[in-house]
Amino acid sequence: ADDALVIFTPSGKRGRVPKGTAVLAAARKLGVDLDSVCGGRGICSKCQVAPAYGRFAKHGVTVAEDALSPVNAVERRYDEKRGLKPGRRLGCQATIEGDAVIDVPPESQVHRQVVRKSADARPIVMDPATRALMVEVAEPDMHEPTGDLERLNRALAAQWGVRPASAPLPVLAGLQPALRKGKWQVTVALHQETEDAAPRILDIWPGFYEGGLYGLAIDLGSTTIAAHLTDLVTGTVKHSAGIMNPQIRFGEDLMSRVSYSMMHEGGAGEMTAAVRAALNDLAREIAAEAGVEPRAIVEAVFVCNPVMHHLLLGIDPVELGQAPFALATSDALRLGAAELGLDAINPAARAYLLPCIAGHVGADAAAVALAEAPDKSDDLVLIVDVGTNAEILLGNRARVLACSSPTGPAFEGAQISSGQRAAPGAIERVEIDPATKEPRFKVIGCDLWSDDPGFGAEVEKTGITGICGSGIIEAVAEMRMAGLVDPSGLIGSAEQTGSPRCEADGRTHAYRIHDGTEAGGPRITVTQGDIRAIQLAKSALYAGARLLMDRMEVDRVDRIVLAGAFGAHISPKHAMVLGMIPDAPLDRVRSAGNAAGTGARIALCNRAARGAIEKTVKAIHKVETAVEPRFQEHFVAANALPHATAPFPELAQ
Ligand code: FES
Repeated sequence: ADDALVIFTPSGKRGRVPKGTAVLAAARKLGVDLDSVCGGRGICSKCQVAPAYGRFAKHGVTVAEDALSPVNAVERRYDEKRGLKPGRRLGCQATIEGDAVIDVPPESQVHRQVVRKSADARPIVMDPATRALMVEVAEPDMHEPTGDLERLNRALAAQWGVRPASAPLPVLAGLQPALRKGKWQVTVALHQETEDAAPRILDIWPGFYEGGLYGLAIDLGSTTIAAHLTDLVTGTVKHSAGIMNPQIRFGEDLMSRVSYSMMHEGGAGEMTAAVRAALNDLAREIAAEAGVEPRAIVEAVFVCNPVMHHLLLGIDPVELGQAPFALATSDALRLGAAELGLDAINPAARAYLLPCIAGHVGADAAAVALAEAPDKSDDLVLIVDVGTNAEILLGNRARVLACSSPTGPAFEGAQISSGQRAAPGAIERVEIDPATKEPRFKVIGCDLWSDDPGFGAEVEKTGITGICGSGIIEAVAEMRMAGLVDPSGLIGSAEQTGSPRCEADGRTHAYRIHDGTEAGGPRITVTQGDIRAIQLAKSALYAGARLLMDRMEVDRVDRIVLAGAFGAHISPKHAMVLGMIPDAPLDRVRSAGNAAGTGARIALCNRAARGAIEKTVKAIHKVETAVEPRFQEHFVAANALPHATAPFPELAQ
C-alpha cells in the first residue's frame, strides 16, 4: 500500500497517511498536539518526537527499523550544531515510510500541562494568547505593488493559517529592517485572545528568534505587589519578586486611600503615578534578575481589589467609598500595557485585568475563584485569601457566594511592631515549647531552625530582619497554646506565665522571640499591640466567613482552603487556634499559598481560562459586608481566641 498507519502516543490518536508524509504534517492532520515555531525549517527543534520500534501488541502493529526516513541533511546539521537527545527525531524532517508508533514528549506539546504545587490542584494547560511563529515572506516585486505587512500577512495565512494581523506602530517601524536583515525570514510574536479575535503582531525579529516569550502575573495588593515572570511556552515561573505598594504613604488601607482621593485635589492621580512607577521598577528588577530582556515580556495579567483596579487604570475610586459602591466597569479589560504606563516591558505588550465581581469584591476574588474553582466543587468549600482585604468565597456547583472583608494589613506583617513583608530575613515559622515557654523559629532564606546547630552561620546570609504574616500568626497561636496569652488576648507577666521572656512593655507585656545581635538583626518581640492587631484582622476574617455561611444557611462547611501572600503556608492548626476560620476537621483544611497570584498565572498561560472566569464571575453572588448588620455582631464575638461563643469541637480533640 502507498499509505501507512501512524499511532501517536500518549494521545493514542491514529490514522493512515500517504508514505512520505512528514511526522509534523501527519500530527497536524490527525489533530495531534505537536509544537513548531520555525514552521518546519529544522531550526527550532520544538517538533521533536521519539519514534518507537518493535512489536506493539496493544496497538496491533509491528514497527520496522525503516518506518521513518533516514536522518536527512537538515536534521544532521541541527544535531551537529545543537545536539538531539538519543532516539529523538525532528518531526518536520522525518517522514513516515511504514507503520509507525511515535511518542510526543511533553516539551513538544503546545498544550502541555503544568503541574501545580498542591497535590489536589488541577494542572494548568498551556494555551497562551501570545506565540512565536517563524515565517518566510515573499520579496517585494515592482510588478505587484504590495506593502511588506500585507506580504507578511499573506505568508502567515499560508504557512500558519493565521487571519490578517494588525501591527501597532512600534512594530510597523521595525518591520522593514527586520525583513531585510532576516533575508525575508522573520519570527513574529503573535497575540490572539480567542480563536475568533483579530490577531495582533506584538514584535518581530529577523530570522529565527531564539529567546523566549514571557508574561508577568501580577497580584497588585493594597500592601504588597507580587509579580511572577512566567515562560509563555513552558508555563514555568522563571522568577518572582515582591515590593511594598508605595500607595501606603497615602493610607494604610483601601478606605483611607479613597478618602485621600476625596480630600486632595489630584490625589487619585498621585496614587496612580506611584503604583505605575512601582510596577515598572518591579518589572525591571525581575527581568534583570532573571536575565530576561524586557522586550521579551509581551503580556501582563493583573489581579487586584476594586480600589487598586481603579487606581491602576487611572480612575478615581471615589464611588467605591460610598454605597452602592458602583464600579466604573466590572468587566475584564484587555489593553495595551503602555496604556497603563507600563513601559519597562515590550512597548506593544498586552495587559489583561480579570473581571471584578462587584462593589468591594474584585478581580483578586475572581482570580481566587479561577485558581480554586469552588463552582466545580461537589462539597461545600470555604476559601479565604488573606491580604489587607480578605477575599472570601463559599460555595459548590450549585451556588457560590463571595465577599471581601477589611482585615487590615496585619496578616501581611504591616502594623506589627517587628513586622515586615514576606522576604528573606523574615521570621516565617514559630514554635513555643509549652513546658519551657522557649521559642524556636525559621527565617525565610535559611533552611535551618534557630536551635539547629550551624544556624548562626547560616542565617548570616539574610540576617534576621523582622517577622512576616505567617510568622506573626504562628507566634500568636503558639503563645496562646503555651499559656502566655489568655483567651481575651492579654499577654501575661513573667510571674504569671513563668517565662522571663514576657517583659514589661509600658503598662502591658511583650514576649521576646529574638534578642537582636550585631549579625542577627533587631530584637523581635510580640507586643500587646501586635496581638490586638491580629485579633482585629482575624475577627474581620471570621465575621466575613460567618456572614457567607448565614447567607448559605449552613453552620458547617465541608472543607476550607486558606490562601494568602503571608510567607509560609499557614498551618491549619494555628489558623484554628486563633479562630481565623470556622471550625472544621483539620484534615479538611488546606493551605494553598497565594491563590490570587495562581489565578493570575492561569489567566496568563491559558487564554480560554479568561473567557471561562468572565462567565463564572457573572454567576457569583456577592455579599456586601459593609452594609450587613450581622457583620458587626460576628466581628465582636470573634475577638476572643479562638471565639467568645462559637464552639471549636475539632480543636478540643
Ligand atoms: Fe522547527 Fe521542526 S518545526 S525544527
